Amino acid sequence: MRQMVMVGFLQAQNCTTLASAWRHPQARSDFTTPAYYQRIGQILEEGKFQLAFFDDRLSMPDIYGGNPAEVVANGVRVVKLDPVATMLAMGFGTSRLGIGSTASTTYYEPFDVARRFQTVDHMLGGRAAWNVVTSCNDAEAHNMGRDVHMEHDARYDRADEFMQIVLSCWDSWEDDALVVDKTHGLFAHPDKVHRREFNGNYLQSSGTFTVPRSPQGHPVVIQAGSSARGKEFSARWAETVFVAHHDMAAGKREYRSFKEAVAALGRDPDKVTVNTIAYPVVAETRSQAEDRMAVIDKLYKEVDGLSLLSEALNFDFKTKGMDESFSDAELEGMSGMQAMRNRVVEATGHNPTVRDFLEITRRGRPREAIVGSAREVADRLEQWFVERACDGFVVAATHLPGAFEDFVRLVIPELQRRGLYHREYEGITLRDNLGLGLPQPGWWK
Ligand SMILES: Cc1cc2nc3c(=O)[nH]c(=O)nc-3n(C[C@H](O)[C@H](O)[C@H](O)COP(=O)(O)O)c2cc1C
Repeated sequence: MRQMVMVGFLQAQNCTTLASAWRHPQARSDFTTPAYYQRIGQILEEGKFQLAFFDDRLSMPDIYGGNPAEVVANGVRVVKLDPVATMLAMGFGTSRLGIGSTASTTYYEPFDVARRFQTVDHMLGGRAAWNVVTSCNDAEAHNMGRDVHMEHDARYDRADEFMQIVLSCWDSWEDDALVVDKTHGLFAHPDKVHRREFNGNYLQSSGTFTVPRSPQGHPVVIQAGSSARGKEFSARWAETVFVAHHDMAAGKREYRSFKEAVAALGRDPDKVTVNTIAYPVVAETRSQAEDRMAVIDKLYKEVDGLSLLSEALNFDFKTKGMDESFSDAELEGMSGMQAMRNRVVEATGHNPTVRDFLEITRRGRPREAIVGSAREVADRLEQWFVERACDGFVVAATHLPGAFEDFVRLVIPELQRRGLYHREYEGITLRDNLGLGLPQPGWWK
């Protein structure tokens, strides 16, 4: 029977995707320590999550108001540790959980990303994944020494080249290239370690890669593009994808068309799992869960939503009045997450105001949280899964580690009882647990 994928949505930060998470009375505050990440990893592993992944952004959301004062004072996603170093800390405190981290194709060098993630894959015994993003705003550009963020579709054209370099690096060493035969004095077969040469429009890289194949071949590739160009990119490169659908009909439509796009490229659509964001707020009874939700709702501040919108859309929302409409030129100039902008424009049917953006996206708040008892939460997940709006869930936490503790204690056993979710890990590597098998060199060509 088809089994759900569970992904823990993590941040190497002071809060979760909800800026308010650090304000929760039960949230731990030791988010700069390995103990914090190891505890979260151990909870997810107890719940047999296949994957945990750290999101990332190369800036704080200080586009809002043009300075960091307000977001720093309010702790709006302002601490962002290096997620790769953090995933190692979590990895050393767990043994089966797959762990992914985000790295930007716009601001890093492909050789560097290939080497770092392949090294982590060795260090974690084949449990690593890379979430490929093209980044989204000027604050990231400024931190990384550029004047402005690259234009949306060009970022993906560059990312296509980036992937070819990374995957050719990962393919450089054949599976049995490394021998370390002291008796015959042969370290590695020279005919099984290949030099690479890449000359693209955006990127060049030539040379010989320095990290052998890892226990799972190479890290699993994650992607979450939601624009037309982003989805085309995902269909070509991703081994598992993240989406954010809040309406099941749209989720089903998108799921079908994404799988068709994967198949049209000659790839097996059943192997590329689609995981949608879920915000469970679960307790022993529905009324207790509603009480928990009320606590979470009270923690939200308007600055959370406004600064996170500014970050995502690369536009300073403080420059507009709450009920002032955006001009066509302002909307056109939003070069960040364009699918988000388009959704708001479609939903309002006119040039939206700041208030429209806040209300429709609910940025900074759990959008359509699944609030209820274990059975009610499981019912909802089951419906999305069985009706093929997704293959699994990117489970977001309202606060840490409590939200994952509740989910693992209450919802996971219910899903297991229903035969929808595995009781044990299938294997050692992340690929084993996602049913992916070892990658064939050149699968991506
Ligand atoms: C679950 C999930 C996680 C994401 N994580 C990140 C992230 O860590 N960093 C980032 O810049 N974008 C992240 N994104 C945004 C996507 O990579 C993508 O940019 C966004 O969906 C907009 O699509 P587009 O790039 O095709 O316009 C995430 C999206 C989803 C649904």
